[in-house]
Amino acid sequence: MFGRERIELKTPEQVLVMRRAGLVVAEALRATVAAAVPGATTADLDAVAAEVIRSRGATPSFLGYHGYPATLCVSVDEEVVHGIPGGRRLVEGDVVSIDCGAVVDGWHGDSAVSVVVGAADPLDAELVETTRQALWAGIAALHGEPRLGAVGEAVEDAVEHAVGQGANGGVPYGLVEEYTGHGIGTAMHQPPDVLNYRTRDRGPRVRPGMCLAVEPMVVRGSAAVHELADEWTVVTDDGSRAAHWEHTVAVLDDGLWVLTAADGGRAELEARGVPVSALADRT
Ligand code: MF3
Ligand code: CO
Repeated sequence: MFGRERIELKTPEQVLVMRRAGLVVAEALRATVAAAVPGATTADLDAVAAEVIRSRGATPSFLGYHGYPATLCVSVDEEVVHGIPGGRRLVEGDVVSIDCGAVVDGWHGDSAVSVVVGAADPLDAELVETTRQALWAGIAALHGEPRLGAVGEAVEDAVEHAVGQGANGGVPYGLVEEYTGHGIGTAMHQPPDVLNYRTRDRGPRVRPGMCLAVEPMVVRGSAAVHELADEWTVVTDDGSRAAHWEHTVAVLDDGLWVLTAADGGRAELEARGVPVSALADRT
């Protein structure tokens, strides 16, 4: 499940280059979220992200990846991940998950956010916030050289905790298992897989130099999903809405650094008692 493949460990200098890629992705997502208004097409969002990435001298990593035709993945409502941007117009209340990757000098950043367009159904707002909290719980669990399985435990606990607090009307959320986080560095997808749920295999030790993309996908109904005939778009079987959040995180010997967060993750990590690496002060 976690495999025994070799995990690429990064030097601090390499992490600094990944931070440049991460900041381009953060900027592209910020601009894209601002453009996610009623009437905009998902292709409009793609154009916004492409412009930011190119203007920073970076390269979109999704475009051409296994033939993928766009800069972003834009997944609306019951679409979970890998939605292809096109002519669909966003309307008020849509749940939009936007996933973006960029490469700088051969090093990758990968991040996703979910937002509700305009005024939100409270249950959709809760879905988006629960998924965001699950992401940060999973990220914080990387600290202290645990086994990698700590991420999935923290994600699952966070989602269950939210329901226990009354989120989703007390109805269990679905936690999608078919897609996982991943190692990231000189390629977008590297070993190890980063699972979003608890398993018996506790996984490899989390060590300084690892860079990992953590990316929980949470749905309001059943976790069962399938791929559409376009061979990309992943949707929920029951049509319930989904959210997806992702960050690229560097594990360093004195703390974490969330490379795709504008603040390096400082606010969310400090709220969870996790130190931000001093490497973050070198920029
Ligand atoms: N960013 C996705 C991930 O988080 C992968 C996108 S698939 C692509 O792993 F083909 F669009 F690149
Ligand atoms: Co990813």
